Amino acid sequence: MSQSFDNNPAFAGEVSLDCPRREIELCFMLPKLVPASHFTIQELTDAYNQTRVDYLVPMPLNAARLAEYIRIYDVDMERSVVAMSGEQILGINMIGSRALRSWITRLGVLPVKRRMGSGEAMTRYLLEMSQQLGHQRAMLEVIKNNLPAHTLFKKLNFSEIRELLILRRAPNGDYQTPQCQIEWLEASTALDLLGTYPDFLPWTNQPESYIHAGDAQGLRCQLPEGDAGWMIFRKQKFYLTHFVLHTEAGDPVKVGQALLSNLHNRYPILDTHIENITADDPHLPVFRDFGYLEAFRRIEMYRDAG
Ligand SMILES: CC(C)(COP(=O)(O)OP(=O)(O)OC[C@H]1O[C@@H](n2cnc3c(N)ncnc32)[C@H](O)[C@@H]1OP(=O)(O)O)[C@@H](O)C(=O)NCCC(=O)NCCS
Repeated sequence: MSQSFDNNPAFAGEVSLDCPRREIELCFMLPKLVPASHFTIQELTDAYNQTRVDYLVPMPLNAARLAEYIRIYDVDMERSVVAMSGEQILGINMIGSRALRSWITRLGVLPVKRRMGSGEAMTRYLLEMSQQLGHQRAMLEVIKNNLPAHTLFKKLNFSEIRELLILRRAPNGDYQTPQCQIEWLEASTALDLLGTYPDFLPWTNQPESYIHAGDAQGLRCQLPEGDAGWMIFRKQKFYLTHFVLHTEAGDPVKVGQALLSNLHNRYPILDTHIENITADDPHLPVFRDFGYLEAFRRIEMYRDAG
């Protein structure tokens, strides 16, 4: 670990000239913000886990998983931050950067150091980075009912966009498949189709995430009465993850049944963990029919450049 952001006195733990007199005591307490790139992945992993010990949904990480996360989701370590008081890490916050948009992720402050301004100082700093990069949109997700984080993001002018579901399903693969023409797709073809997806996708399911992960596949179906669609997914050693389904023509329920029955019959022993399916996804009834359970839901929020 080395230097702090010396160009901003408030970020360096000193009193800013802009600091109102009545808040001067608070300004003295503001943390020093240091680029995440000044720390090892192990240090960041330890800090992240400590900030999340009391988290609504436990998600402990190890260093290898954090490194993979940074790579797949384009996390910019030079612009991501660690809040410090002396030599102690108080919290972290990371920023992913892609064309015209950024993503705020992994925010956490040590439980005993909360409500002292660190979460807000780090998030404001990342918004400043996003603006400097010329990004039009900052996006994030917050778990539903996480009141402290949700209140913070609303205070910083993020707007709620939609709810995203995290679904789990135990392995099973003995489904009757509807009569349909099925085509298994290589990553490049599946990604071409994903490029035609008509809506803005959550960060985790954007094309860049699949490209970096390197384990994408797809599936396309055509039913006799004209219903047609495709899906993209990631196949890992024990799991199927990160689904996007799209119905190009006809009934999404029929298309979903054709896609999921073929997928699960082909991979009957794999668990399924899917993230960030929109709460209004027309294929949701099919997920329920195939035994998917909602683990929790997130609220997606955007802050667009004015
Ligand atoms: C969310 C979190 C990072 C906030 O960090 P923090 O340093 O305590 O927040 P700050 O002191 O900077 O507070 C800034 C604003 O956040 C909101 N806020 C923070 N804690 C809050 C709480 N317990 N209840 C309601 N609002 C809260 C307030 O709007 C506050 O502004 P105010 O002081 O003017 O009221 C912290 O609670 C945390 O680490 N939680 C666990 C991990 C987590 O939820 N991460 C977010 C994942 S999306």
